[in-house]
Amino acid sequence: MNIIKQMTKTLVSPSILSANLGNLATDIEMINNSTADWIHVDVMDGMFVPNISFGMPVIAAVKQVAKKPLDVHLMVEKPERYIDDFKKAGADILTVHYEASIHLHRTLQAIKDTGMRAGIALNPSTPVNVLDDIITDADMILIMSVNPGFGGQKFIKQSLEKIRKTKELIVKTGSKALIQVDGGVTLDNNKELVNAGVDILVAGSFVFSSNNPAQTITALKTF
Ligand code: DX5
Ligand code: ZN
Repeated sequence: MNIIKQMTKTLVSPSILSANLGNLATDIEMINNSTADWIHVDVMDGMFVPNISFGMPVIAAVKQVAKKPLDVHLMVEKPERYIDDFKKAGADILTVHYEASIHLHRTLQAIKDTGMRAGIALNPSTPVNVLDDIITDADMILIMSVNPGFGGQKFIKQSLEKIRKTKELIVKTGSKALIQVDGGVTLDNNKELVNAGVDILVAGSFVFSSNNPAQTITALKTF
């Protein structure tokens, strides 16, 4: 499955952090039948971020039902400890935080060695220039547009400039990395984000609190 292809359109990866966790299969079916491209799965360890969400058993259960690639965002200290476990659980894209993995180059190689795609996430306070010497090793850069840990937070405006800088770095270095944005994405900022260079929009509360989540997913990628 060629999950990261030459980009011609904007991808949407709904975050199931805001799904109905008591009836997750129904929301995964909705995503299966929608125009969503990936399924964004937020893993939180209560250390890197204050919150705890879900781990490998939930991902393995989601994988049973999902017909789209699992885009797993690890908000976990020392994520390199769990790379094989997430592969076994069914992750297709594994994103780790720059701030959480000291030997990031080794971590990315280990992710790619399993056959998964490797992403790097940056917190809002982390500057883009920390990517200078690693961007050509990444399949994706995730720009956090809220402080990670919770759904439903307000979009941080400076993220737009960070996305533009990331795009510039990608063009300058010839990196093939895609740009993902995560946090506070709505129909009020989707177009501006794509114009700034975003390839993949993550949206949680905006999708799952809407009256028609499948329609909202399509609306997010329609300009
Ligand atoms: C936040 C998570 C996000 C979250 C986004 O730490 O990484 O993926 O689900 O939620 P919204 O779209 O509601 O900001
Ligand atoms: Zn996320």
